Amino acid sequence: MKRVFLSFGVVVLFCVGLILFLWYVPSTWLGATAKPLPADPAYLDQTLSIDERVDDLLSYMTIEEKIGQLALVERNSLSSSQDISTYTLGGLLSGSGSKPVENTTTGWREMIDSYQTIAAESRLGIPLLYGTDAVHGHAHVEGEVVFPHQIGLGAGNNPTLVREIGAATARAIKQSGANWNYGPNLDLPQDVRWGRVYEAFSDDPARAADLGAAYIEGLQKTDEASNRIDVLATPKHFIGLGAMAWGTSKNKNFTIDQGVTMPDEKTLQDVYLPPFAAAIDAGALCVMVGLNTWGDQRTIFNKNLLTDTLKGELGFNGFVVSDWNGVYEGQPSTFVANIKAINAGVDMVMLPFDYHSFVREVRLAHRLGLISTKRIDDAVRRILRAKFALGLFDQDVTAVSAQDDRALARQAVHESLVLLKNDDVLPLAKSSKHIRVAGSAADNVGQQMGAWSIEWQGVDGNWLPGGTSILAGIKDKAGTQTRVEYDKTGVFTSTEKADVGIVVVGEKPYAEGWGDRGVPILGDEDRQAIANIRQSAEKVIIVVVAGRPLFMNSEIDMADAVVMAWLPGSEGQGVADVLFGISPLRGTLPLPWPRQLEQLPIKTDGTTADGTEVLYPRGFGLTYK
Ligand code: BGC
Repeated sequence: MKRVFLSFGVVVLFCVGLILFLWYVPSTWLGATAKPLPADPAYLDQTLSIDERVDDLLSYMTIEEKIGQLALVERNSLSSSQDISTYTLGGLLSGSGSKPVENTTTGWREMIDSYQTIAAESRLGIPLLYGTDAVHGHAHVEGEVVFPHQIGLGAGNNPTLVREIGAATARAIKQSGANWNYGPNLDLPQDVRWGRVYEAFSDDPARAADLGAAYIEGLQKTDEASNRIDVLATPKHFIGLGAMAWGTSKNKNFTIDQGVTMPDEKTLQDVYLPPFAAAIDAGALCVMVGLNTWGDQRTIFNKNLLTDTLKGELGFNGFVVSDWNGVYEGQPSTFVANIKAINAGVDMVMLPFDYHSFVREVRLAHRLGLISTKRIDDAVRRILRAKFALGLFDQDVTAVSAQDDRALARQAVHESLVLLKNDDVLPLAKSSKHIRVAGSAADNVGQQMGAWSIEWQGVDGNWLPGGTSILAGIKDKAGTQTRVEYDKTGVFTSTEKADVGIVVVGEKPYAEGWGDRGVPILGDEDRQAIANIRQSAEKVIIVVVAGRPLFMNSEIDMADAVVMAWLPGSEGQGVADVLFGISPLRGTLPLPWPRQLEQLPIKTDGTTADGTEVLYPRGFGLTYK
């Protein structure tokens, strides 16, 4: 018996020793040699095709260098900047709100250039992808123009304008030294309780497909002479986001975000796939996988969706990136999760924290034959293809011209507003002598911008350089003949009634599951401001600054006019232009506006859960006569 125990102990010790050995030992100790690098390797030859350059570079790479390319790390998780070169990391990102101390374009440029310098010092000098969530302009950089969030662009439904916004965003990203944007968002939101409704264009797959493709064309804007793309786009989140059921979130902090996508396979194919197909046709070289679950499986581990459908059926030859910590969320073992995700078709893992363990775990999995060399080579090939397409290996990257895009953003605001109700009060008459303004969003550029601006969850107030509040816009447009009074709460001392009261109400910024709300309504402060203004003005106009339709039937009934402004960004003047009729109104609802909670979710064909009629259907929007 004792002998059996002893032999068992020896076997266990041997196995543990072997695993530890395979875990720590570099490939070179096991006899692997790197192919020597000639003085002028072919991959630096710009006259060769991208695939020829990729093949050549791949032929010199060790397994460690290849695995390093699969790692995407948040810059604050670097134990040392030198690790960029030691591990040949594939990419870095600024998670939303992660910015240099000097939060200016120059500050970003210096930070990212310093990382690229270290990457260039590695054996093969493979440049980094540097990603950011510039989802409505490069809005994390102080003083940058902030465009309306995508839902407003969905209301405008103007692909030409969206293409220009993509190009403007690319300019800002390039100036800051980054080369990769985590957008456009192609989710199709069907439940306004979800905290990410405003990140999407529309619940209509056709609108999302058209606008998404236009945005990618603008952002990537292939240069004909060099055949290079400008900034790498990332259509997201693959697939079925927006169709999760309330109460199914796998994240204990959230209710619907990161939940279970309900539609069946046919609906997924017919409704959710087309926007991604359009994105690929428009040249997308990267797709981000969502944090949702479909059936009993997280999408991130679904080989059928990632490999067979996306890469096979749609012919996608770019790379698949996972979402923030998405591979590990709720998983008992990071080792197993890495194997499942990479084998399912994830090419680059947004870790975003522990790259040390990632490299060792994937190397161990490879040594044990759990991830094949073929799969790793395929993933690296896809990532390198994007790097070459961006021209990152080539020295003569063209300089970016500075341009003021405020006028473009203002036009986007004009086009995004939707007029829901108008009892002959808008546009504001030039003869209005007295206007009263109130509401939490009237004088708050931070609130207008919404989240993904400076900070992940957004900022409050008017402290940012550039940009105008809606109140400033109203004062500017009203002219000298009109008295404009402002009080956030709508309380004014004089008992005399104003001709018009404008109450700018809405939601405080939120991002992702932190914006999941059981019943999205106005806050007490705003409801009170509307009631107050109703007493002190002849006519009441409500302007809603929010990321989604709200349940506010009684406030709508109480008002003479209602304008949905979504999250218009830094150019509040654009809202005033429309109120005063300087710019026409042409926006239409990009998704239905529900009348009651029981209608949720509303399918993309407009069918409500309780079979009743919504308050305003998708496509609704009044115009000025
Ligand atoms: C979001 C993505 C985003 C990523 C990087 C995640 O939490 O789901 O949409 O691109 O973070 O910031």
